Amino acid sequence: MADYDLIVIGGGPGGYVAAIRAAQLGMNVACVEMRGALGGTCLNVGCIPSKALLSSSHKFEEARDHFAAIGIKASVSLDLKTMLAGKDKIVSDLTKGIEFLFKKNKVTYVQGKGAIKSATEVMVNGKDVLKTKRILIATGSDVMRLPGVEIDEKKIVSSTGALNLDPVPGHLVVVGGGVIGLELGSVWKRLGAKVTVVEFLDKIGGPMDAEVSKQFQRLLEKQGVAFKLGMKVTGADAKGKGVALTMEPAKGGAAEKLEADVVLVSIGRRPYTEGLGLDKVGVKLDERGRIPVNHQFETNVKGIYAIGDVIPGPMLAHKAEEDGVVAVETMLGQKPHIDYNLVPSVIYTWPEVASVGKNEEELKTAGVNYKAGKFPFVANSRGKSVGETDGFVKILADAKTDRVLGCHIIGPDAGTLIHEACLVMEYGGSSEDLARTCHAHPTLNEAVKEAALAVLGRAVHV
Ligand code: FAD
Ligand code: NAI
Repeated sequence: MADYDLIVIGGGPGGYVAAIRAAQLGMNVACVEMRGALGGTCLNVGCIPSKALLSSSHKFEEARDHFAAIGIKASVSLDLKTMLAGKDKIVSDLTKGIEFLFKKNKVTYVQGKGAIKSATEVMVNGKDVLKTKRILIATGSDVMRLPGVEIDEKKIVSSTGALNLDPVPGHLVVVGGGVIGLELGSVWKRLGAKVTVVEFLDKIGGPMDAEVSKQFQRLLEKQGVAFKLGMKVTGADAKGKGVALTMEPAKGGAAEKLEADVVLVSIGRRPYTEGLGLDKVGVKLDERGRIPVNHQFETNVKGIYAIGDVIPGPMLAHKAEEDGVVAVETMLGQKPHIDYNLVPSVIYTWPEVASVGKNEEELKTAGVNYKAGKFPFVANSRGKSVGETDGFVKILADAKTDRVLGCHIIGPDAGTLIHEACLVMEYGGSSEDLARTCHAHPTLNEAVKEAALAVLGRAVHV
């Protein structure tokens, strides 16, 4: 007799949402989590603490640098301990909230490390064996290491250490100009550090639309962030007071040195499957250590499923959540679906950067005939009235059918605005659908409407 209908291993956004949805659908569910707190990377050391610091550092910078211009006199100083403690309180409130949701939905929370013994057995902490009808792996991801640059979480930190620096470093060198590097680099720049980002590619933001990436870099440079593009870090010497980094041009050339007080290594994340016992039960991994799954999120072993950061696809919390819901609903015969092309991505710097669907480079490569409509925030009356005029909205639509294929926003609240495009794309809508939707005035959303009008060649306010 099985103890459970489903055992979920990992209590991050993928695992805990899947567990709750399965319980809502009538399954008897347990979730095994080894961290000592629910919520995974996202709530404990990822999305939530980083967004808390991005928000408080943004407010600090606003008060210090921008209040005087709008007629507010204030004397501003940093109380870093209180700022960090505030972030910790937000994290602990939210993780306890998930425990409450588990109780409410009658999900059994098992604290400990789970290992798969067979397709119907999970061992916890090497002793207790729980029997189950199905297993869902949601063990997430971990920091990618850089050979020669050993993380000690003091002078050479991962994103986890970068959430707790005290004092503010004199010079923070960020290795990797992707999402983590730009978000956490922004936090410490605002709080007073000199920040240099060393990036392997010749653009920041990875797969970001090239025009957005260029503007993003310009705006971050205006804020004082320095960039060394096309450079790869090859080693670090942390024996002295600070860290001496060695780097060389990605295309080859003479090595350079760079002195830092603290180095943040943010060159990506890797799937986490250590100690799960996958080899023993025959679950296959791909060349990047991810667990391949079919459309039902089932691995090559019947009855063992996987979702979230540990499988291929964008490493994002909302994608992990959707995976979890689709996986458990499918187990019960429902027919949900998730389209990874419609998973939005947001960088929570200021201005924010958000995108969904294809960018211009991808459409060109695929030979798609498209039209682009662009609208700048400087011409948006709400942007102007709140002093947020940097950036633009760009909508890409099929030249023949007008179906929206992508949307790229750099600007105030881009992460909120992008969902207009997500919704219209989810319904297979056109730029005309967006343009003909009545938008309240004055709102930042009117920039989205105007970009849609621009696709049709009839923007009003430019
Ligand atoms: P995880 O959240 O990694 O959870 C997996 C859990 O499984 C962990 O708690 C782990 O302890 C547990 N576990 C692993 N192995 C076992 C085992 N054998 N037994 C028991 N438990 C186990 N994404 C966004 O969408 N928006 C953001 O703003 C954002 N910001 C981020 C900021 C930072 C600094 C970082 C590092 C990441 C950020 N992410 C963000 C990414 C996001 O955190 C991940 O995509 C998301 O957490 C993945 O969810 P998951 O459930 O797949 O895995
Ligand atoms: P990333 O993949 O976004 O960026 C890593 C960058 O490091 C790339 O631009 C890469 O070219 C560069 N790089 C690799 N090796 C290098 C080297 N030796 N020297 C210099 N540069 C090098 O990875 P990141 O920022 O670590 O984030 C990991 C994951 O976490 C991402 O997949 C992201 O989806 C997720 N995340 C999401 C957030 C959000 O949604 N707002 C916030 C933070 C993380």
